[in-house]
Amino acid sequence: MLNVKAKESLSLYDLTCEYQVNPLGIDQSHPRLSWKIRSDEMDVFQTAYEIRVTTDPKSFVHKGLSWTSGKVSSDQSVHIAYQGNELKSGQRYYWQVRIWDNKGHASSWSTVNFWEMGLLAPSDWKAKWIQYTKDTPKASGPSPMFRKAWNTNGKIKQARLYITSYGLYEAYINGKRVGDAYFTPGWTSFHKQLQYQVYDVSSLVKSGDNAIGVSLGDGWFRGNLMGGRNFWGKDLSLLAQLVIEYTNGEQQLIISDDSWKTSLNGPILLSDIYDGERYDARKEIANWSTAEYNAQQWQPALVNDTLSYEHLISSAAPLVKTQEHIKPVKIITTPKGEKVIDFGQNLVGWVNFHVKGQAGDSVVISHAEVLDKEGNFYIENLRRAKQQLTYTLKGGAEEHYHPHFSFQGFRYIKIDGAKELIDLANIEAVVLHSDMQQTGTFETSNALINQLQHNIQWGQKGNFVDVPTDCPQRDERLGWTGDAQAFFTTAAYNRDVAGFFIKWLKDVKADQFKSGAIPHVVPYMFNGEQGGSAGWADVATIIPWNFYQVYGDEQILKDQYTSMVNWVQFMTDNSTDGLWNKGWHFGDWLFYVPNDDRDGRAAITDKYLIAQCFYAHSAQLMINAASVLHKSDDKQRYEQLLEKIKKAFLHEFVTPSGRLVSSSQTAYVLALNFDLLPENMRAEAAKRLVENIRSYDNHLTTGFLGTPYLCHVLSRFGYLDVAYQLLLQETYPSWLYPVKMGATTIWERWDGIKPDGTFQNKDMNSFNHYAYGAIGDWMYKNIAGIQPDEIIPGYKQFRIAPKPGGEITSAKADFESVYGKISSSWRIENNTMHLEIEVPPNTKAKLVFPDIKTGEAKDEKGKTLADQDEWLTSGKHSVTFNVK
Ligand code: BGC
Repeated sequence: MLNVKAKESLSLYDLTCEYQVNPLGIDQSHPRLSWKIRSDEMDVFQTAYEIRVTTDPKSFVHKGLSWTSGKVSSDQSVHIAYQGNELKSGQRYYWQVRIWDNKGHASSWSTVNFWEMGLLAPSDWKAKWIQYTKDTPKASGPSPMFRKAWNTNGKIKQARLYITSYGLYEAYINGKRVGDAYFTPGWTSFHKQLQYQVYDVSSLVKSGDNAIGVSLGDGWFRGNLMGGRNFWGKDLSLLAQLVIEYTNGEQQLIISDDSWKTSLNGPILLSDIYDGERYDARKEIANWSTAEYNAQQWQPALVNDTLSYEHLISSAAPLVKTQEHIKPVKIITTPKGEKVIDFGQNLVGWVNFHVKGQAGDSVVISHAEVLDKEGNFYIENLRRAKQQLTYTLKGGAEEHYHPHFSFQGFRYIKIDGAKELIDLANIEAVVLHSDMQQTGTFETSNALINQLQHNIQWGQKGNFVDVPTDCPQRDERLGWTGDAQAFFTTAAYNRDVAGFFIKWLKDVKADQFKSGAIPHVVPYMFNGEQGGSAGWADVATIIPWNFYQVYGDEQILKDQYTSMVNWVQFMTDNSTDGLWNKGWHFGDWLFYVPNDDRDGRAAITDKYLIAQCFYAHSAQLMINAASVLHKSDDKQRYEQLLEKIKKAFLHEFVTPSGRLVSSSQTAYVLALNFDLLPENMRAEAAKRLVENIRSYDNHLTTGFLGTPYLCHVLSRFGYLDVAYQLLLQETYPSWLYPVKMGATTIWERWDGIKPDGTFQNKDMNSFNHYAYGAIGDWMYKNIAGIQPDEIIPGYKQFRIAPKPGGEITSAKADFESVYGKISSSWRIENNTMHLEIEVPPNTKAKLVFPDIKTGEAKDEKGKTLADQDEWLTSGKHSVTFNVK
């Protein structure tokens, strides 16, 4: 028994339920609870915990708890599943936890946190699906508006709005906007799963007369997407259920039904994700969402009984919200005479502006990512996306506007129409993205690398808008699976992407074709079954496994397991004797191709060689996942499969002397990274890779699939110096070339803008595409040295293994893990390396010394550390040693 003494220095913070703080609308039957531990002491581990859950926060100590775990001897502090009484729809559950540690301390009970259940059964929805009319226009048209007035009678205790739509919604109660999220209900594969949101609207509902108003926009549901529209349907529809609880225990339900009124005569004349918005302020209807408004002219809403409730799910992901406000850095008149504003940063969101003028005057705002060589506004790379706002003034006092159902990718805006009416002092760009907490920071002594990190972060902001997209500006903006898998681990350093990917992976699974192939884009909307491309479809195995590494969450493997199995089965079904040699593949997308390729310098990699490498990788991940989930038969089955795949690879793609049939960097990188070559061939293969890099004068030539692993392979096989040479290379193709060209985000192509200032092919030239930003993973893992441990994942155990190089004299990264802050910071001065490390409570880290270490390492107290690797437990550590 521990000698327990209460000590305030041991406390708990960041309590979460299913990765969210005090969430509304949980629909798991056993939601998981997590906490972080704060302690003044070093070497702290949790030895036991106790959780208690109640529906009445005043009665924690009384009988009637929904659950008490009792004191459980365990060091588990994340993802602990609720095990109490069955959870009820709409009910709020309050919870607390306390812990004991290995130092004999007990924490106090934590602060009281809560989660609230969503509507768990389809029958909990009393509301009806309503529409403006069944015959909505085929092209973008005005936003339908809906409203309902009602009275409350009694003292209100609380009110909740459960709401979703086909199309995007914005809701108002008594003239005030509900919540601060945009583009709700989010983008999913709408007919398979449609998210609803839950809002606490207690402060918006008042006693007496009330009204709710909701307007809808086309959004992803029926707006333009990749040359088509109406992919999920033609009619915008609304489902809203407002539950008011009075202090006397009575309940009042306001539900969408045919008593609601609807109108098409509002100010939003057109809204579209790609095209922007047309807004006529003269058509604004004052007070339309308040009880004062008389909606006699509006028509009754049409109920559509054919729409289902079965596929409604609560939204698990952070919603898209306003994140930053950016002021212009320059106002330019271009050589063509255009009036252009430069915000200094390529970003995603919209502009907020103020105008004053006559009724009927119009202002037109266009958005662009870059100026052309001459300095003129350039929009050709947007393809068919208009990215344009047209605002018509109502006249009189100053007017203020930002769009509602559209976002733009831009650094520059061009103002046309009644330009002079815009108040330039007050114009700002508003950055919007999924509300993911920043978890990582990374900085070095090299300013160009820091700009690269900045660009990676901004690539993530701009493309994490409810789903992981390829780009945010042209007529695409789709959930390309290859891009997402390539960038996942980098993304998970920079921000908390747990909820974001839990949501999206549900669609990866839901949209998987019967054959087991994964679509190229998710949510899927192309014709037929376009999928199964190597390195794209492997998203099905790669993200769940990498997610497990970062968050230590087995549930993701359980949830995705069938989908993972089916994907690997697809490859097996399309293989002969372990060789996957069928199907259409993107290959190493956007690899290096010189302009005038006379002696064959283009870095082409055989597509089936690539496919075989990813087949092996996915089979390996099945072995890993089966092992974690204790599915020993499966594990054995996949081990046998992997052997077969490797054998087929050797037979088909490797000469007896170890040369690959494609001599590209990507070929060697993939074969080495996924262990396709027997041990005795690897050193030679790595040498060939380096020779290849040398033959391109120390340049990379890899595309989307080779790039994420390139530096990893080099540093793993003893060529750290070459990895740094590539990283620090400033001429094309390289990561720093765009940086030198003034990029503020990651470009789609290594040479989006050529050295002479001309552009790459306008049909595919995004300046905000995160895929090549996947180098961020290598930078965190190797420059700063923060690496999760495969066997004990989620940073419960991890490595600090910095590998200085490339004349970088200092680096620092912080990473907020599910256990708390991990930090690694080093500097080299006079051949001495000073390393500061922070390890969160309840975890331990292995310090792996860099190869350049000479002599002994000492900690801050002068104690000598083990010669090789040293284990560090929680607290701050300073380590010093000499280096070559
Ligand atoms: C997208 C990509 C995507 C690719 C498929 C492009 O149009 O922008 O990033 O992965 O198509 O090859």
